[in-house]
Amino acid sequence: MHNYLIFEGKRFHYLWLRDNCQCSECRHHSGQRLQETWQLDSQVSATQNANAETDGLEVTWQDGHVSSYPRSFLDSYSYDSVDAAASSIKLWSPKQLANLSSYDYQQVLIDSKVKLQWLEDVTTYGVAKLHNVPIDPGTILKVVDQFGYVRNTNYGDLFEVVSVEQPQNLAFTPIPLSLHTDNPYRNPVPSLQLLHCLVKAELGGVSALADGFHGAKILQQQNPQAFALLSTYKVNFRYANDDAILEHTACMIEVDANGEVEAIRVNNRSCAPLNIPFDLMTDFYQAYQSFMRILQGDECKLTLTLDAGELIVFDNQRVLHGREVQAVGNRHLQGCYADRDGLRSTAALLKAKVQQQ
Ligand code: OGA
Ligand code: ZN
Ligand code: ZN
Repeated sequence: MHNYLIFEGKRFHYLWLRDNCQCSECRHHSGQRLQETWQLDSQVSATQNANAETDGLEVTWQDGHVSSYPRSFLDSYSYDSVDAAASSIKLWSPKQLANLSSYDYQQVLIDSKVKLQWLEDVTTYGVAKLHNVPIDPGTILKVVDQFGYVRNTNYGDLFEVVSVEQPQNLAFTPIPLSLHTDNPYRNPVPSLQLLHCLVKAELGGVSALADGFHGAKILQQQNPQAFALLSTYKVNFRYANDDAILEHTACMIEVDANGEVEAIRVNNRSCAPLNIPFDLMTDFYQAYQSFMRILQGDECKLTLTLDAGELIVFDNQRVLHGREVQAVGNRHLQGCYADRDGLRSTAALLKAKVQQQ
């Protein structure tokens, strides 16, 4: 006897089906599960062969309980084969991102469809751009209000990216910054970052962006051993000054159980002394350097100059950012952090609303 049934070519375990019964005894009207998964009989099975109705599946269980599953439910939750095409993200090279739209902030404020496209770009490409954002200081916080919540840190609710006298961070100098993700020494890391240009540099201060997932894929193809090292061995990230001592230990390339890249953590400034097994140290350095060369190379690095009133939102666990060429003049950006869950929730609600229109 199998512990599963087959519905329209897809296998479903009896235990999974019993756990996902949608009846009012098993599910609250809010959609939340009432029955306790841990108390289910792991050997549960159906008394009758399950009947495939025209609109789905009905199962009668040994204890007499009856469950029905609409076809749409089984289609959307089928787990029989992993569908790689299901992912909504698109990896990009600088050429491909030339198509990245810049949205008019004033339109975002009044038009749900434009707002939805802007937010969906963050999920798809890991970065989205706005123009026509008022250059009044603090406007960046209002931009975050459009989709979620500011993530406060020791840098404040927002931080000024300007050159100062006694900088606590290289970000607050005019010197270039190689591609990086922010705050890898924090756990959890802020998953979104925003940068808003208030005053453009007279010269230099060009911004750079790279899709870290794309870079990781190139590394994996060119040098699988390097990819394996960076996704297996953890490194220490550290930031310390009078106000904060922050440390986190994690992989530069984080992969899930299927080997898919989930997060990137790279930051030359805050990478503490490597602590890799002796025999692997030189290989690890080579792997790290190869990854950086790929990211900083033409296949990954996109350069752009933000004008006053332009703002980028990017996924800080996927898209790396940096600053090229020493900035000349009173360049002034404001930055802040936020999180992806709020943005995705706002996008999902907007999508449902737009589809009803
Ligand atoms: C930062 C940063 C980039 C820039 O402040 O985190 O990377 O263009 N700034 O100044
Ligand atoms: Zn039920
Ligand atoms: Zn940064």
